[in-house]
Amino acid sequence: MQNRRVVLASRPAGWVTEDDFRIEDAPMPRPADGEVLVKNLWLSLDPYMRGRMSEAKSYVKGVDIGEVMVGQTVGEVLESRHPRFKQGDNVLTQLGWQLFGCSGEVVKVDHAKVPLSYYLGILGMPGMTAYFGLKEIGQPKPGETVVVSAASGAVGSVVGQLASLWGARAVGIAGGAQKCDYVKRELGFDDCIDYKAGNLHRDLREACPKGVDVYFDNVGGETLDTLLRHMSLYSRIVVCGLISDYNATEPYALKNIRAMLVNRIRMQGMIVFDWKERYGEALQALAGYLSQGKLKYRESVIEGLENAPKGLIGLLKGQNFGKQLVKL
Ligand SMILES: NC(=O)c1ccc[n+]([C@@H]2O[C@H](COP(=O)([O-])OP(=O)(O)OC[C@H]3O[C@@H](n4cnc5c(N)ncnc54)[C@H](OP(=O)(O)O)[C@@H]3O)[C@@H](O)[C@H]2O)c1
Repeated sequence: MQNRRVVLASRPAGWVTEDDFRIEDAPMPRPADGEVLVKNLWLSLDPYMRGRMSEAKSYVKGVDIGEVMVGQTVGEVLESRHPRFKQGDNVLTQLGWQLFGCSGEVVKVDHAKVPLSYYLGILGMPGMTAYFGLKEIGQPKPGETVVVSAASGAVGSVVGQLASLWGARAVGIAGGAQKCDYVKRELGFDDCIDYKAGNLHRDLREACPKGVDVYFDNVGGETLDTLLRHMSLYSRIVVCGLISDYNATEPYALKNIRAMLVNRIRMQGMIVFDWKERYGEALQALAGYLSQGKLKYRESVIEGLENAPKGLIGLLKGQNFGKQLVKL
């Protein structure tokens, strides 16, 4: 048996293309003492991967040219040289875009009641991001209005549903009528605005007549700038992601910063790892809501490792509808 992997071939300037990746065969890895050999079954594709392809300074080191693309996977232990794991265990790993890999740092997951892939989405990093970003930084109070962008996606869909569960009014922003319909009808948000219709300012005024108390920002750019005009007194902005800027060669320059002073807005960036010690709390809460049927969740699945580059490019263009995964 051979391993197959996707490595970074070049650093994109602007939009990522398939030429920025190279698919190669490699010898089967062998576990050292304290490691397990894992067959990856699902690979998560996430917007942060665009940042790792660049050389710009960030909160973690980027991928080197020729190195396997970074990414979380869930898989099955084929061979164990680690005292806590045995063959057949299901584990969450950071093995990246490849079919097999060895690591000593894997987490055992129990998928008796949920599909294994959920540990890459609603019960994984995106779910934790939604939970801690909203709870700890957004701090919505019952009756307040919470707006979230990329509302049909992995993080946004959980943010809006949690906001509703915690007694707030949830308003989504998403691209296109189909996504907005899903956000309202399936996810139960109070409203959803199609930003691609081109009237975000007017539509926000209608959907949030009393203003916005929490804006959970997944996209940055012009959407964030427009939101600044709608924020209430003492409101909070959670800076979770800036996807509209990830492929831009020039960052968007905000015009409406004055609103922060006038309305005493608190705007804070978040990185989910800061809550690593409390992941158990979020997992328990999210799994509880899921088992009670209080959280809905959708996946966007593409098949085959060789299609991962296409999948990432599609995700950055909004072609995914729900958490983007690759079935390996
Ligand atoms: N800070 C953290 O720790 C952390 C952790 C996880 C994720 N994040 C961030 O959270 C955000 C959402 O991530 P996700 O994994 O949940 O992805 P996602 O929402 O499932 O997928 C990305 C979505 O972004 C939207 N989008 C793409 N380009 C856009 C643009 N130019 N303007 C507006 N929207 C655009 C698209 O939805 P539409 O079709 O609706 O436009 C697309 O479906 C990303 O910015 C990501 O970097 C941050």
